[in-house]
Amino acid sequence: MTKCRQTAARMVAYGKGILAADESVATMSKRLADAGVEPTAENRRIYRELLATAPGLSESVSGIIFCDETLRQTFSDGTPFAAGVSELGILPGIKVDTGAKPCPGLPGETVTEGLDGLPARLAEYAELGAVFAKWRAVFKITAETPSRGAIRANANALARYAAACQEAGIVPIVEPEVLSDGEHNRGVCRDVTSEVHAALRAELALLNVDLAGIVLKPNMVLEGQGYGRESSPAEVAEITVSVLRAWPDDLAGVAFLSGGQSPERATANLEAMQTYATPWPLTFSFGRALVSPALAAWHGDPELVSAGQQALLERVAANGAAVRQRGELQSV
Ligand code: 13P
Repeated sequence: MTKCRQTAARMVAYGKGILAADESVATMSKRLADAGVEPTAENRRIYRELLATAPGLSESVSGIIFCDETLRQTFSDGTPFAAGVSELGILPGIKVDTGAKPCPGLPGETVTEGLDGLPARLAEYAELGAVFAKWRAVFKITAETPSRGAIRANANALARYAAACQEAGIVPIVEPEVLSDGEHNRGVCRDVTSEVHAALRAELALLNVDLAGIVLKPNMVLEGQGYGRESSPAEVAEITVSVLRAWPDDLAGVAFLSGGQSPERATANLEAMQTYATPWPLTFSFGRALVSPALAAWHGDPELVSAGQQALLERVAANGAAVRQRGELQSV
């Protein structure tokens, strides 16, 4: 367990966040195709190598989350991804859920799957070099959802995953994502996010998960994308931290997902969070808000690898600078 605590502390070390580059083969293929790149395994590999080898990435990135495909691939010089990023001072991680699937009994809702055979898969991923893992549960806000059944089923699965990871000596990133689809205001998102987190804490406790050996990856509390008025960074920070206050002090850290926000908004909101004194660091584990500019700049052109890396590094530096304001900005 001490090993998990040490790894978790490194993942949320001062001034650093986590790069989420673990899109499934299907999602990554779609993003490549949308950028005009042929969605082959080799192009997915080239793109992930571009991200992982951006010069100086480790200054503000503690770890990278990969998917199964990438963890089995190598850099162009033959070094496996996990060994390659480790040499660059970055912790390799692996997404282990198998996706949000229709939840029997709850029409229109999902439960994230991947528990079958998980201990054996974790052992193999540890062999391949992964030191942390990720599992994402998804909740959609509508008039009827998320239901208590979906909240409880997903919270239980997240806890079973987290317990299995800790038994394998792998730090679980625990990701309960309340989506920003919808026309609700941020108060509704706060209430749903609070309910989801409360259920999650209860399930984690029942399975004796050590909070000092997990990283919580929540959504920021935002209005729905169809609401009409964007909450300010100060408003987002205030309401998000109010929800997180329910987590005990021993939680290793919080690393937010970006959830479809523009890269600039995600960074501004993250920076505003730093004004609050919290017992745990508040950092980033963004996917799209870090990699979208890089994919757009590169778009498959071998001549533009360096431009893609610069676009990634720009976002990484902005978010690193935001979290380094912790301590300087804290007033509450
Ligand atoms: P976004 O930051 O693009 O929401 O993705 C983060 C992630 O890892 C989703 O599981």
